[in-house]
Amino acid sequence: MGEMRIDVFFTSDDRKKSLMRDVEHGLTSRPKTLLPKYFYDAVGSELFEQITELPEYYLTRTESQLLSSVARTTISRVCPEEVIELGSGSSTKAKVVLEPAYATGRLSSYIPFDVSESALTMAAEELTQEYPSLNIHGIVGDFETDLDKIPPPNGRRLLLLLGSTIGNLNADSRHKFLTAMRAILGPEDALLLGVDLVKSVDMLHAAYNDKLGITAAFNRNILAVLNRELGANFNPDEFQHYAFYNPSSARVEMHLIPYVKQIVAIESLCLSIEIQPNESIWTESSYKFTRESTVTMLETAGFSLKDWSTDSDEQVGLVLATPQQR
Ligand code: SAH
Ligand code: AVI
Repeated sequence: MGEMRIDVFFTSDDRKKSLMRDVEHGLTSRPKTLLPKYFYDAVGSELFEQITELPEYYLTRTESQLLSSVARTTISRVCPEEVIELGSGSSTKAKVVLEPAYATGRLSSYIPFDVSESALTMAAEELTQEYPSLNIHGIVGDFETDLDKIPPPNGRRLLLLLGSTIGNLNADSRHKFLTAMRAILGPEDALLLGVDLVKSVDMLHAAYNDKLGITAAFNRNILAVLNRELGANFNPDEFQHYAFYNPSSARVEMHLIPYVKQIVAIESLCLSIEIQPNESIWTESSYKFTRESTVTMLETAGFSLKDWSTDSDEQVGLVLATPQQR
């Protein structure tokens, strides 16, 4: 029988402390910013799940299909005893990889790692039912700072970072994050990284401005998080969801723009901020990649490319990379 265990390194206390620091910094900067990791409370994680099912949001559907087509080959190349997934969310895609890995009889554990305790707990409970002899060791933490909380290796590792979650970090943070990932991998281990590719502006625009307004609700939910966790008095409905592709930076930007001037009090920070309709709160960047930019990003962080796959329309890319031999 496998074991199920969840370690919470990002407790509500830690979360509040980093939220206070990041919000104070972000909302007193120009432009005003909030970090996308704060989208994912229980409501935000559920809204993200709804986004993944939208017809306009090609990313999840296309990456899942591509993953199904490369999973067996990837598993036979890496032969993992441990699968670690960063930003695992509902772990829906992990199942595609766990299935053939489990079938080898070598896989002993799956380590989902996410900042969202609610998403991680639900996923771990479901996977325990599906794979009763697999050890499931969930870690609630911030993947930018807490990779050292992952227990020492217990055999070959396959590290998953899917859904273009890497694209929500800027170039410096991506480099630091990939370098930290490289540090927890041994010479026989591998990283399977999913990236969203540069594509037509219309398709990107539709994906981040869906007709049902789920992405808008996801975006506004970050203000509800600040209301609940920091005693702020944002009225999320007073903010317009604004998402567009910025081609010179190869990123979709998501912003919140007030319809009329807002004066907001944030009790826990003893701070009052004014937001004018001619400015925005920049809540997310979603960088898009090419094969070339992906390879450069990986190589400069100490990885070598082993395999590159895309779907037939070249919407998303999946890269198998291994640590460069020193
Ligand atoms: N891998 C899934 C989910 C992607 S959504 C997929 O491909 O569909 C991004 C996930 O990363 C969310 O579950 C979110 O909670 C998590 N996340 C975002 N920032 C994080 C951080 N700094 N540390 C850990 N998890 C984070
Ligand atoms: C998780 N991440 C890669 C998603 C993205 O596309 O950047 C989050 C998201 N934001 C709006 N829609 C989905």
